[in-house]
Amino acid sequence: MSILDDTKSGIMVDAHIKSVFPVDFLWGAGTASYQIEGATHEDGRGLSIWDQFAATPGKVYQGENGDVAADHYHHMPEDVELIASLGLNAYRFSIAWPRILPEGTGTVNERGLDFYGRLVDRLQERGITPFVTLYHWDLPLALHEKNGWLNRETAFAFADYAEVVARRLGDRVDWWTTLNEPWCSSYLGYGTGEHAPGIRNMQSAYSAAHHLLLAHGLAIPRLRANTSQRAQLGITLNLTPVYAANDHPETLRAVEKADMMSNRWFLDPIFRGKYPEGLFAEAGVVGPSIEDGDLAIIATPIDLLGVNNYSRSLIRPHVAEKGDSDIVNRSYEHVAAVENSEYTEMGWEVYPQALADVLVRVHRDYAPRAIAVTENGAAFADEWDGSDHVSDPQRVSYIAEHLQSLKKARMQGVPVLGYFVWSLLDNFEWAQGYSKRFGIIYVDYPTQRRIFKDSGSWYAAFIAAQPRQRVS
Ligand code: FCB
Repeated sequence: MSILDDTKSGIMVDAHIKSVFPVDFLWGAGTASYQIEGATHEDGRGLSIWDQFAATPGKVYQGENGDVAADHYHHMPEDVELIASLGLNAYRFSIAWPRILPEGTGTVNERGLDFYGRLVDRLQERGITPFVTLYHWDLPLALHEKNGWLNRETAFAFADYAEVVARRLGDRVDWWTTLNEPWCSSYLGYGTGEHAPGIRNMQSAYSAAHHLLLAHGLAIPRLRANTSQRAQLGITLNLTPVYAANDHPETLRAVEKADMMSNRWFLDPIFRGKYPEGLFAEAGVVGPSIEDGDLAIIATPIDLLGVNNYSRSLIRPHVAEKGDSDIVNRSYEHVAAVENSEYTEMGWEVYPQALADVLVRVHRDYAPRAIAVTENGAAFADEWDGSDHVSDPQRVSYIAEHLQSLKKARMQGVPVLGYFVWSLLDNFEWAQGYSKRFGIIYVDYPTQRRIFKDSGSWYAAFIAAQPRQRVS
C-alpha cells in the first residue's frame, strides 16, 4: 500500500483515502468578511454591529477591531493567487451585508457588489468554485438600531438582501448558504453578550434565533428564483457531538439536554419543522413568538447542510457551587480538561472522531440531501522567524487526522461533498481579536505579508494527490 509521506511533518496519509473522495469533491478553505477584509470605511460600506461592538471598551481582546484585519479588500487578487497556488478547487467566503446595503435595506451600493463580482471573476478564471455565505455575523448597524435580530422585520430585510446578491452573482455562483452558525449569532450575540451586539438576555437569544431561522427560510425561495438550476442552497450550523463522561443515568440525561441546547435547537426546526420539546423550558425562557406558518417557512427544503465542527463536548451533571446563579444553564457542565488530550489555543479539545460522529449522526437523524464540512481547523501559537515558511506541526496533525475522520464518514455513506479548512488566512478572531491564529497561511499584520504555514503546504500536497477533474 502506498502512502503519502510528508517528511517535514512526519504525518502519513493512507493513499486509500483517494478512492473515497470523488473527482468533483470540493477541497477548500474558508474566510468571513469582517474577519479578513478591513476597508471598513471604503467604497460606501455601512457600519456593522461588529464595528460598534469592537469600538466598545472591554469587548474585544486589547481593544482590537476589523478596520484593517488581513486587508483582504486590497489584497484580493494576491489572495486568490494564494488559493490557486495551494491547488484548492473551492473557496468559501462571506458577503458583507453592509457593503451591499449600507442601511440594511433600501439603496443598493453597487461598489460593494462590484467587489464580490471581481472576486468571483478571479476565482473562476483560476478554476476555483466560489462558495458564498450571505451572513457571517456583520449585521448592518442601521438594522441593529431598529432592534436587529429581535425585530421580525430583519428576517424580511435579509431575504431582500439575499435576492439583491443573487441577482448579481446567481448566474455564476452555484453554492450558497444563508447563515453561518445562527447559534453563535443568537446565543453569544444576544444571550451571553460575548459577541456583537453584546446583549445579555436569554429570552432575547431565543427570539433572535427564531428570526434568524425565519430569515433563512424566507431567503431560500428568493435565492432559488435568481440562481441557476445547478444551484445548491443551504445553511451552515456549528454542530458539536456530545458525549457522556460516565454512564450514570443522570449523565445520559444531561447529554440529551446538551445536545438539544447546542445542536437540535437549529437542526429540528430546519429539518423537522418544529423546535425540540422542552427546549425553552430547559433554557428557562418562555420561547419566541412564533406566527402561523413560520415553522413551515423555516423548514423550506434545502439542498445542502454546511457543518462546522472543531471539537466535542464531554458532559457531566453539574454539582452546584456557591455563586452559581448566573444566566448560563447549570444542570450539566463540560469537562474542561480531559487527561491526555491535546487542546488548541482556543481551549478546544482535539478530538478528530467528533467529525465522523457528527456527520454520521446528522445523516442518520436528519438526512440532508448533501453535506459540506464548511469549517474545521485549529488555532495554535504560530511564530514566524522571518523565513519562507511557518512551522505548525500541530495544525498539520489536526487537519490530517480530521481528514481521516471525514473519510470514515464518507465510507459509512454520508453524502459529504466538500471540506473547507478554517481558515485560509490568520484573521480577526471575534472577541479574541488577533490573538488566535487559525490560518493555513500566516499573516504578518504590520506588513500584511502572507507566509505559507507547513499546514498549507501539507494540505496542498494532500489535495494534489487526490483524483481531480481537469480544469480547462
Ligand atoms: C466559528 C466561526 C468562524 C471562526 C471559527 C474559529 O465559530 O464561524 O468565523 O471564528 O469559529
